Amino acid sequence: MTLDISSVLQGGYNHPLSRQWQSRRGLDKSMLMYPIFVTDDPTSRVEIPSLPGQCRWGVDRLEGFLGPLVQKGLRSVILFGVPLNCEKDGRGTPADDPQGPVILAIKKLRALFPALFIATDVCLCEYTSHGHCGLLHEDGTIDSTPSALRIAEVALEYARAGAHCVAPSDMMDGRIKAIKRVLIDNGLGNRCLLMSYSAKFASGLYGPFRDAAGSAPSFGDRKCYQLPPGAKGLARRAIQRDVTEGADIIMVKPSLPYLDILADAAQLAPDYPLAAYHVSGEYAMIVAGARAGVYDLRVMAFETTESIVRAGATLILSYFTPQFLDWL
Ligand code: PBG
Ligand code: ZN
Repeated sequence: MTLDISSVLQGGYNHPLSRQWQSRRGLDKSMLMYPIFVTDDPTSRVEIPSLPGQCRWGVDRLEGFLGPLVQKGLRSVILFGVPLNCEKDGRGTPADDPQGPVILAIKKLRALFPALFIATDVCLCEYTSHGHCGLLHEDGTIDSTPSALRIAEVALEYARAGAHCVAPSDMMDGRIKAIKRVLIDNGLGNRCLLMSYSAKFASGLYGPFRDAAGSAPSFGDRKCYQLPPGAKGLARRAIQRDVTEGADIIMVKPSLPYLDILADAAQLAPDYPLAAYHVSGEYAMIVAGARAGVYDLRVMAFETTESIVRAGATLILSYFTPQFLDWL
């Protein structure tokens, strides 16, 4: 049998370099944003058992922790506050406490690492007594308008403290418009990027994060604000809404079970950077599989991350970032 001309593909990828040319875009260090948990005991370094290799850091520990990573090419981080010694209440008052861990960390990192891009997650669940991401009516349902306004207030304080990016993960209706407005009205519209967690699904993959951040809801779940896993249409509408409300970057979260949504976002918002959050449960799952001998960790970290890039992401929030700084 002779192979037909059109049957032969292998000639196109028989060398490591020609294999690399087969990707529309390769993974590089500038595409990685590293999630960091910052707590209010300034000297603490506490490992998170369900998120192997990741810790909660006190502000005084950030230099020692991040310095070597910046040396290796770390370009951006996203900060999550883990307040342990504060009075939580219904409106999440500690979220924008000027002495709270996030605001202190923004200022510290700006001073320590002038070239590092500092994003901040904006949500209330780490700071509310009920652990939900917005403000509640007495019956426990979300009170949308004050929620969006409160989220915008917090975002403004992070931007004022020097955050390069505010990233609301709360999923309250109207918060993108509210944040953009407040940034513009306070002269920060051109100085702070707004990254929307647009298509954030009510996923089973956030467990290790909630351990890390102490942000599990005290009752109920988040299904009335995070999207139902099967909801392609809602996800597409949320992406389009956030574009019209002024988002600068659109995010899909989690990543691997939602690559079709990522591809949809690339088609719906082709003129925007597209972020994917490779979330805590995905990371823990990959690490656990490697420990169980199912596959090699590095092979699987690359395969999953490159598939996220292939689906359309230009930016990936990843707990594998420190390893990729060695591998890339
Ligand atoms: C809080 C928030 C969550 C994550 C990011 N911001 C958890 C949640 O919504 O319950 C998840 C990130 C991860 O799992 O790595 N709004
Ligand atoms: Zn939240």
